[in-house]
Amino acid sequence: MDQSTHPPIQTVGVIGAGTMGRGIAHVLLGHGYSVLLTDTSPGALAAATRSITAGLARDVEKGRLTAEAKEKAFESLQPSSDLAGMVSADFIIEAAPENVDLKADIFRRLEPLARPEVIFASNTSSISITRLASATSRAGRFCGLHFFNPVPVMKLVEVVAGMETLPETLAKASSLASSLGKTPIQVNDFPGFVSNRVLMPMINEAVYAVMEGVADVQSVDAVMKLGMNHPMGPLELADLIGLDVCLDILKALYEGFHDPKYRASPLLEKMVHAGRLGRKSGRGFYNYCPTTQTE
Ligand code: 3HC
Repeated sequence: MDQSTHPPIQTVGVIGAGTMGRGIAHVLLGHGYSVLLTDTSPGALAAATRSITAGLARDVEKGRLTAEAKEKAFESLQPSSDLAGMVSADFIIEAAPENVDLKADIFRRLEPLARPEVIFASNTSSISITRLASATSRAGRFCGLHFFNPVPVMKLVEVVAGMETLPETLAKASSLASSLGKTPIQVNDFPGFVSNRVLMPMINEAVYAVMEGVADVQSVDAVMKLGMNHPMGPLELADLIGLDVCLDILKALYEGFHDPKYRASPLLEKMVHAGRLGRKSGRGFYNYCPTTQTE
């Protein structure tokens, strides 16, 4: 079927109701799309529904959405723990945890459910799009759609071309991102794409600077905020992203390029092993538990 004859995208499937999935669902709903949100965890779906509801209410308070549009958006969200509903999706975005086997398995199970012309996009931050696409029989209609945290605020979407991705797939994915008020930037499938290839070495170097005693956490962050005008210091940002996610991306860069310049700082590894994952665990380079505040 010629893609130009396809009906417009109305219903988007979002797989994974974690931080990124719920942010993507929130933005889609706020821009008039219907969303099928799936996750195997009912708890994650309930938490995502609460967070999306609060986000849409905030959009009304801030004048970004009318009260009527908010009501319509609430009604357009269908949370489900079953992938079978994806049969009615016009476009599917996977935002499951960063595990290649898990993601490939999701795409394998989606393949017979989704209509053949539907594009599959992965929000992966570091896994090869070409590799994930090979789990399906639609590598031409497969791409990366990499959103940034917090999704409702960050303007960029990296649109990643795998080796077999068709130009019309990239055009359609870019047009979806634009319709959400985002700026799509097309990049090719290489480890870390552009964003994390540039960002993660900076974060890693900041961790090395702390490990080697060049300066303390607050001072490293202050240097980058006051000297480079970054909205957050690299260590504060690592806490926002999740130290486990940063470590996984550094490992993907290291293994992808076989270059020691991407070697993760031993301090970062140690913190992940200790369960200090950043904001989500209550402690990373900073402490987010008010009752145990020591820093
Ligand atoms: N979720 C949703 N909205 C959020 C949010 C969150 N977690 N955190 C902040 N916001 C919203 C606030 O609600 C506020 O919006 P509103 O007032 O218009 O409703 C707006 O962002 C500004 O928030 P604040 O005034 O509280 O705080 P700041 O002005 O300090 O901004 C920030 C917070 C937007 C997070 C800013 O510090 C920032 O841009 N930091 C850098 C973030 C960044 O670099 N993200 C990319 C991470 S890399 C990534 O995601 C890729 C992955 O592959 C690793």
